[in-house]
Amino acid sequence: MYENIDALAVVRSTSPDEPITLLRPHAATRAARFFVEKFQGKSLYAVKANPSPALLELLWDAGITHYDVASLGEVRLVNKFLPDAKLCFMHPVKSERAIAQAYHNHGVRTFSLDSHEELQKIVRATKGATDLELCVRIRVSSEHAKLSLASKFGADPSEVADLLVATRQVADALGICFHVGSQAMSPAAFAEAMGHVRAAIVKASVTVDIVDVGGGFPSVYPGMEPPDLESYFDVIHTMFEDLPISYSAELWCEPGRALCAEYASLLVRVEKRRGRELYINDGAYGSLFDAAHVGWRFPVTLLRSNTAIGTQMAEFSFYGPTCDDMDYMAGPFILPDDIKAGDYIEVGMLGAYGCAMRTEFNGFGETETIIVEDAPMATLYGDVRDNDAVHRPMRTSTSHQ
Ligand SMILES: Cc1ncc(COP(=O)(O)O)c(C=O)c1O
Repeated sequence: MYENIDALAVVRSTSPDEPITLLRPHAATRAARFFVEKFQGKSLYAVKANPSPALLELLWDAGITHYDVASLGEVRLVNKFLPDAKLCFMHPVKSERAIAQAYHNHGVRTFSLDSHEELQKIVRATKGATDLELCVRIRVSSEHAKLSLASKFGADPSEVADLLVATRQVADALGICFHVGSQAMSPAAFAEAMGHVRAAIVKASVTVDIVDVGGGFPSVYPGMEPPDLESYFDVIHTMFEDLPISYSAELWCEPGRALCAEYASLLVRVEKRRGRELYINDGAYGSLFDAAHVGWRFPVTLLRSNTAIGTQMAEFSFYGPTCDDMDYMAGPFILPDDIKAGDYIEVGMLGAYGCAMRTEFNGFGETETIIVEDAPMATLYGDVRDNDAVHRPMRTSTSHQ
């Protein structure tokens, strides 16, 4: 890994044959500081969004001390790189072996659950431990989110009161958690979910020590421009203050995307142009899973030193490098109309879920990593146009869509 000033400088100095992941540590640090300073509670980083050790260490240095892990692999990973971090095992369905190892070998005390069966597993695997923090996950709507998390997990409203009472009997600290779905486009998602938390507490009449509002905090992508994050925090803080819970109850959240989307982008080369289709050297099985499978439109920029001023922009779709027809990203991605084979494109905002889902299918997928100092293509943590003016002077043709 080496450092360079910005994406265009990387193209000029290396003309890479393979895709390159560009990392912006400063962007992840800024996001983490924002949560640490403005969210009035604990922010747990959802490791699944990007488990890179370098990122984990950056977030730790920026003040993120709690980590939401979903598998024994993530438990081991965070334990290895951040031995003093607090780990919260927030996958509601775990194997007994994973629970036992997390508890006995890695010091995990916090677990989520959404059924009586899971509660029994936790009790058996921890041998009836009395120091558990157990968070009951309730099912809430994903209607404000771009990616639903409403079907798979979460106790049904009709079962929640019973489960809270049963969990209270074995937990040292009792929590309620939920997930409003990823990329929630309105603070109303959290307001509605907090309404369900209130109703559950009232119905079960239990003392609740932790309210965990989960992830779902958005980032910014073409066609998805959410309100500012503080408006989400305001709704959560106000509704938390109003809950019938003990005065010492803690507020938690579990951001994944919002902490790391701006951390990474990808430099790809156009290998072929067919009309308005560009064949690029990364795709559905690489860092662009969401672009292919859920039609996510990431921001794109042509990285070329000498595009003529006034070049028309046009809509393109992408094919990835594998032999598979499904390796296709419809976009549309807006780029200069004269783009051709040999040109380089930066695809932005891939720090969350993009880098984490890369495979080596068909022999592709190897990428070098370079740290750059310029601004991410978009940000929820400041004025992106100011950042561009200051940090991206070398671009002659940009399309932030
Ligand atoms: C339990 C849990 N917490 C947090 C997250 C992170 O969500 P996001 O990246 O939308 O913030 C997820 C994502 O799937 C999750 O399942």
